[in-house]
Amino acid sequence: MDVLEAIDKRRTVRVFKEKATGEQIKKLLLAGVKAPSGGNKQSWEFILVEDRELIDKLAEYKYYMNREFKPAEGQTRDDVEKAARFQQKAFANANVIAVCSNSGMVADGWLAVENILLAATAEGLGSGIIALRGDARTKTEKLLDIPENKELVCVIKIGVTEEEPKPRKLRPEFSWLHKNKYSQS
Ligand SMILES: Cc1cc2nc3c(=O)[nH]c(=O)nc-3n(C[C@H](O)[C@H](O)[C@H](O)COP(=O)(O)O)c2cc1C
Repeated sequence: MDVLEAIDKRRTVRVFKEKATGEQIKKLLLAGVKAPSGGNKQSWEFILVEDRELIDKLAEYKYYMNREFKPAEGQTRDDVEKAARFQQKAFANANVIAVCSNSGMVADGWLAVENILLAATAEGLGSGIIALRGDARTKTEKLLDIPENKELVCVIKIGVTEEEPKPRKLRPEFSWLHKNKYSQS
């Protein structure tokens, strides 16, 4: 699969049938570390979280974070609660990788993440990003012993896809393009 096809096919997966193999995960990580990085510092570190209790804690932090979200238009409190529970359950059957980088260098981590997601697509695997912010992030950093000089970028989940994602909703083509200045299109 060429890179444009992988970009086109990559979709966020939240329901997994089973984990990827250890060999596949190594291959994806090796794709991750070929990403560009500021000053070639390659300041990323990856924590393969395999311990069930740790994964359950991460899922719990995600749940408590998301249940505090304000309901979007047309959403009830109950919808927010259900969505938060869904995020918690979405850790099932997936390989869980916490990505961190040097503090202030999260761009390095994010670029590695995108390489990993695209490599997962090319391998026929599904993948998804889990954002942990505020208290959930602080607790995750503590839980995973992430040192003070590093920060959590995100958590990624990889696995064999169980559900086919709905068609992508993209903004109209080139509606985001400006010429010379933001004020001109
Ligand atoms: C910074 C960032 C944080 C995200 N956090 C989450 C998350 O916590 N949970 C989740 O299910 N998806 C998360 N996503 C995935 C987005 O919801 C997804 O990329 C978006 O809906 C577009 O869908 P696609 O990836 O299938 O194209 C995140 C994506 C990004 C870039």
